[in-house]
Amino acid sequence: MSISSKSQQGRLDRMLTMEMARVVEAAAVAAARERGQGDEKKADQVAVDAMRTELNNLPINGRIVIGEGERDEAPMLYIGEEVGYGGPEVDIALDPLEGTTICAKNQPNSLAVIAIAERGKLLYAPDVYMDKIAIGPGYPAGTINIDATPTENLHAVAKAKGVKVSEISTCVMDRTRHADLIAEIRAAGAPVRLIGDGDVAGIIHTTEAEATGIDLYMGIGGAPEGVLAAAALRCTGGQMQGRLILDTEEKAERAKKMGVTDPNKAYTMEEMAQGDVLFAATGVTDGNMLKGVRFAKDGIYTHTVVMRSSSGTIRWIDGRHVDNSKF
Ligand code: FBP
Repeated sequence: MSISSKSQQGRLDRMLTMEMARVVEAAAVAAARERGQGDEKKADQVAVDAMRTELNNLPINGRIVIGEGERDEAPMLYIGEEVGYGGPEVDIALDPLEGTTICAKNQPNSLAVIAIAERGKLLYAPDVYMDKIAIGPGYPAGTINIDATPTENLHAVAKAKGVKVSEISTCVMDRTRHADLIAEIRAAGAPVRLIGDGDVAGIIHTTEAEATGIDLYMGIGGAPEGVLAAAALRCTGGQMQGRLILDTEEKAERAKKMGVTDPNKAYTMEEMAQGDVLFAATGVTDGNMLKGVRFAKDGIYTHTVVMRSSSGTIRWIDGRHVDNSKF
């Protein structure tokens, strides 16, 4: 099948999903070589280098909209950087190493992640915080509401799932800013799963509640990570809402420059990642859904998930890479 220069009927070329697997595999393997070394910067840098090299091998006209930062602060994979050697015009959200601290400490759930959508279909989120709430598939529309209290959301999710509130497990990042949130969830009689870092994984984990034990995600994390998580949930099904936290004039101004007209807007998952969206992630360290990279005598083993919103297809890819020179 030839790779067309234009998406057909608003769909991205499906061959891109496999190409994306290579991109996240390369970043994950590079980062995994730095696992447990306590050097977050180095782990991130090698993942960035590897991902950028692979992205430039893709048949796309890619523009990074969620990346390593704004141009003056990130030399590579910065917002606005163009990647690929030519093809359909796409926007890219990426995080070559999501959970740099987790990787440096060799703890669970660090990932290499990327999402691709047609031009203009991803939210151009500045590097600020975002308040987020998410659940996996199978719930009636409108089950969660970012403007409701945590207790109200817990009750709504429990009712829709047909269980007691005490059986709804909520993932929250372990941060002092979440003290009240955590206290309220516990006071409602529900368990909290605290994570040190990595809320892209935390949100994706709601989509496999049986396997991960996480039904609901609530709390404040990075806005770029919010867009990446929304892209994943668009593919798997689920619900998510996010609101940028623009608590200084400087942040509000930055957001305005990126096209945010209403600073208080609560974005739906569909508003953060519209149209046909492709998402891929490879585990760097072992996690609840993805195994980490394994270096063995006969090759390097990777575990990757690739998904596409328009078809709803989710592929789990176990890779063995014998050509070590590639990594
Ligand atoms: P990095 O991969 O950039 O280290 O981000 C990890 C992360 O935990 C994200 O998953 C999360 O959205 C954000 O940091 C939270 O930020 P903070 O550590 O400032 O609370």
